[in-house]
Amino acid sequence: MANIVIVGTQWGDEGKGKIVDLLAEFADIVVRFQGGNNAGHTMVVNGETFISHLVPSGILQQKLCIIGNGVVVDPQVLLEEIDYLKSKGISVGPDNLMVCEKAHVIMPYHKKIDVSMENRKGACKIGTTGRGIGPCYDDKVSRRGIRFIELIDPDLLKEKLSYILDEKNFILEKYLSCEAMDSETILNEFSAYAERLAPFIKNISVIINNAIKDGKQVLFEGAQGTHLDIDHGTYPYVTSSNTVSGNACCGSGVGPKAITGIIGIVKAYTTRVGEGPFPTELFDETGDYIQKKGAEFGATTGRKRRCGWLDTVLLRNAARLNSLTGLAVTKLDVLGGVETLKICTGYEYNGKILKDVPAGIKVLAACKPVYEVLPGWKEDISEIRSLKDLPDATRSYLNKIEKLTDIPIDIISVGPGRNETIVLNNPFK
Ligand code: IMP
Repeated sequence: MANIVIVGTQWGDEGKGKIVDLLAEFADIVVRFQGGNNAGHTMVVNGETFISHLVPSGILQQKLCIIGNGVVVDPQVLLEEIDYLKSKGISVGPDNLMVCEKAHVIMPYHKKIDVSMENRKGACKIGTTGRGIGPCYDDKVSRRGIRFIELIDPDLLKEKLSYILDEKNFILEKYLSCEAMDSETILNEFSAYAERLAPFIKNISVIINNAIKDGKQVLFEGAQGTHLDIDHGTYPYVTSSNTVSGNACCGSGVGPKAITGIIGIVKAYTTRVGEGPFPTELFDETGDYIQKKGAEFGATTGRKRRCGWLDTVLLRNAARLNSLTGLAVTKLDVLGGVETLKICTGYEYNGKILKDVPAGIKVLAACKPVYEVLPGWKEDISEIRSLKDLPDATRSYLNKIEKLTDIPIDIISVGPGRNETIVLNNPFK
């Protein structure tokens, strides 16, 4: 039996949604374990595009989808997403979607504080998605968060909200010059959400572990990417959760022995949304070409993504931090038509070559990428379905990635559609 974790190796937006949707066919359960609706997972099936922010990408394959305790959930967004999926003819209900009773709830003050704090920071802003993710995790760690188990207990919700709002309103009014929030209004709104969501709220650790005992296969779906990890990313330009594979266990209530494989999703080039250093960023027409051809706009905020060359310093870091067992290379078709390709193999800093990502943000910002140059290919590869039919230059590019990361490529994606894929090794088989 296989239980596989999927994580992003770069700064998110690697195309995890497509690979999760593809591999979900072989899983019984798909679990989200961190992040929230800052994520946007795009799936294209039979020419139709679906975007989910909270519901695991396994929903299109009609698998049991679980939102783990490590996720922060905006109930309004979750309900809208359930309605959106239903309107697209996908069945979603408490039998195939569950939310952990211990998952934290994103409250309206989290969103207000997220946006207002960013505005206050001016030039030092992080470029958050403004969805309240950071402030919700802040409250979780400071032990004044509201979990789903409390959301569905009206008396407890009222009691907690009254003392939490005292503090939030002080911050909103005195520090952020915003209007105070009214507890009655929030209570009314959230009681209605609680009523609709109550049937979905479960002890998911028990459900997942029992399923594993019964021989079921689980796919753990990461959000964002390794270099947005709160501990291991380019701090402070990171998200507020651990995005690395180890958190699949903490964020869903299973032990590490349950995991049998870890696939790192690698976009064939690099992108980043929001602020923060990006050594291989392109500011020329090649960057524009990749941005346009790859339709590199954030699925959540619509922001233009910054684009750059593939960076194997990042990939090696991701391989180590996640114990990757295989790679899935995505958006390889986008590079078609670029005459020469560059792959970053190290960073030059103060006359030295660094092979690992430095922790100091100023050091990383001053690093100059060292490149290997490879020939590009002109062909459209999106119709190709086997490795041997890819152009020589494309195969050389893939070989180089394997050699520089020392991790085998299991899956190659040559287009957004589920079928536009070359599977070399299915981790579930
Ligand atoms: P937050 O997660 O909204 O707090 O944003 C923190 C940083 O993470 C910002 O730079 C965001 O652009 C980035 N970020 C958050 N979620 C994603 C994602 O799913 N893809 C890419 N970047 C993300």
